[in-house]
Amino acid sequence: REVRVFAPATVANVACGFDILGFALEQPGDTVRAGLSEGKEVKILSISGDSGRLPLDAAKNTAGVAVRHFLDHLGEERGIEIHLEKALPLGSGLGSSAASAVAAVVAANVLLGEPLSREELIPFTLEAERAACGAAHADNAAPAMLGGFVLIRGYDPPDLVRIPAPEALCCAVVHPHIEIRTEDARKILRREIPLEDAIVQWGNIGGLIAGLMKGDYSLIGRSMKDVIIEPVRSLLIPGFEEAKQAAMDAGALGCSISGSGPSIFALGNDRRKIEAAGQAMQAAFAALHIDSDLFVSAI
Ligand code: HSE
Repeated sequence: REVRVFAPATVANVACGFDILGFALEQPGDTVRAGLSEGKEVKILSISGDSGRLPLDAAKNTAGVAVRHFLDHLGEERGIEIHLEKALPLGSGLGSSAASAVAAVVAANVLLGEPLSREELIPFTLEAERAACGAAHADNAAPAMLGGFVLIRGYDPPDLVRIPAPEALCCAVVHPHIEIRTEDARKILRREIPLEDAIVQWGNIGGLIAGLMKGDYSLIGRSMKDVIIEPVRSLLIPGFEEAKQAAMDAGALGCSISGSGPSIFALGNDRRKIEAAGQAMQAAFAALHIDSDLFVSAI
């Protein structure tokens, strides 16, 4: 028996929620086909869509790492064979490593008769994230696993809170064809934060969560500001300020870096405006001769 599982791209951080907030797009995403095998091994039999860049060695691939931890946790005697179909670009800030890990561990769970719930599978995907970038952050894996917006209230143990979003909320994500490794984008961050910045940031994250739950678009927009991470990481993304300004001029509620970048995203409450914002962001990159892809999605 073979099962097929899709896991979507995700936008982590959502401006002010570094490592504690993310949401899932509808498309694109990675797909895993998997089956049980004799023997305890986790094998990646094939990977497509990665231009040959990802290792087939299961110990070096987030899909393989997540499934290995899952099988070890269960004390499972059987193995899993995986075919990974990548649609998410690597180093894009779209949660590529998390999507592969989530799709693989959900597929393995289904094959074994669903011994664990979706929430209970999260720790294995975090081990995969740790292997990929050195940090077991959950703000891609949790929304890829559960859908919608997910707040990671705490990490020890993971305390995941699904946050409802208003019906019309939609998103444009532009992926400029530059690559940024999450590990590198984390190393450059300041380790200490002035209290004044912390006050602004936690005001905004509280405001963003309240805005989502109340369906208050103005509050969502006012809260989508990041005074801690974006000022540092935006330096790695040529054209960021211009693209952000273009999105805001086109009527986006807010705009920031998706995860560790270089993708940038804008939220809106009007599908046509958010499509225009996406195209305006692409035009800003094109002015610098940077090609990009645009994804528009409901949330
Ligand atoms: N919260 C993580 C970071 C997401 O910003 O480093 C990485 O996709």
